[in-house]
Amino acid sequence: MLRISTAMSSDFLDATPDQLDERIVTAKAALGDRLLILGHHYQMDEVMKFADVRGDSFGLSRIAADRGDADLIVFCGVHFMAESADILTGPHQQVVLPDLSAGCSMADMADIDQVEAAWSDLERVTDTSRIMPITYMNSTAAIKAFVGRHGGAVCTSSNARAVLAWALMPDEHGIARADKVLFFPDQHLGRNTAFEMGFDLASMEVWDPSQVAGGLSAEKISAATFLLWQGHCSVHQRFTTDQIERFRLENPHGVVVVHPECSHEVVQAADAAGSTDFIIRFVEATEPGTAIGIGTEVHLVKRLADEYPDRTITCLDDEVCPCITMSRIDAPHLAWVLEEAVAGRIRNQITVPTETATWARVALERMLAII
Ligand code: 13P
Ligand code: SF4
Repeated sequence: MLRISTAMSSDFLDATPDQLDERIVTAKAALGDRLLILGHHYQMDEVMKFADVRGDSFGLSRIAADRGDADLIVFCGVHFMAESADILTGPHQQVVLPDLSAGCSMADMADIDQVEAAWSDLERVTDTSRIMPITYMNSTAAIKAFVGRHGGAVCTSSNARAVLAWALMPDEHGIARADKVLFFPDQHLGRNTAFEMGFDLASMEVWDPSQVAGGLSAEKISAATFLLWQGHCSVHQRFTTDQIERFRLENPHGVVVVHPECSHEVVQAADAAGSTDFIIRFVEATEPGTAIGIGTEVHLVKRLADEYPDRTITCLDDEVCPCITMSRIDAPHLAWVLEEAVAGRIRNQITVPTETATWARVALERMLAII
């Protein structure tokens, strides 16, 4: 998705890393406590070293919701994360994304028109009051608002299981909120989570948004418990079971941990799967000397390798797989938005329209209440 950014002066691009560091430190000091810099674990070190708080997308959304004292939140992450922060913060707070072109290709795989069309198709063949729409955090505010309006919730990779259980498991009176889940936009997180909960693959169908009724017959739609939107992450789809086999051959005592955006086969072949925060805790819990193969974005893997020099930490994919859009947040853009804020100019502010924000907040707050 194209987002127009105000041009940054070339002065920042020409500055040396040391000069940029100094400018960031000075601007941070000038902004003081009114500034909060949030850094997602996939951020580059040149940016991450200035984050006041680091986290996965769930942790950062919770911090954004809780820190009413910070009136300027600079979100070093991608667009959907900054949108969620704007939705969860008060009217006196401003959320800035240092480069507006830092999007997420997975979030762009479900657009609101396709989602509305899918719902109309479903209304023709089944009772949609028994379908719970659940959206992964990696989605636009418009999709979150759709979900909020239709009784559903947001989830992240760290609470997807709890959110799916909330949707489908019977309460103390034996009544479940829904019989079926429409899950967007990552089919892999949906499939991996449902499988881990004990649902078999036959209870899941992939919804192809380019086809009428997702390319599914009315019988298939009725029989499925999960309709999984056909979206994926271009970074995590690169991990394969062959890479895991090779790692295990080279490291017979090694362990493998991957993100649940990887395919079902990869998650099954790994020793563990979880959010970026989970991966960090998994590494922390290993003994010195352990060889660890990781299937997630390479900046996090490199940081872990630097922080734990007594373990052998490698990315499962030799070709190295950065999230290009996360990497758009760099030191020049961070220095620029901070200096502009010191001068009283807020650049690249993320503002979700009120109607969308109201319903998206409903879906996000349901998630925060579940876990
Ligand atoms: P986490 O919620 O695990 O931080 O993941 C976000 C993400 O975009 C992974 O690709
Ligand atoms: Fe989106 Fe994948 Fe990048 Fe995560 S790693 S922000 S899902 S493109």
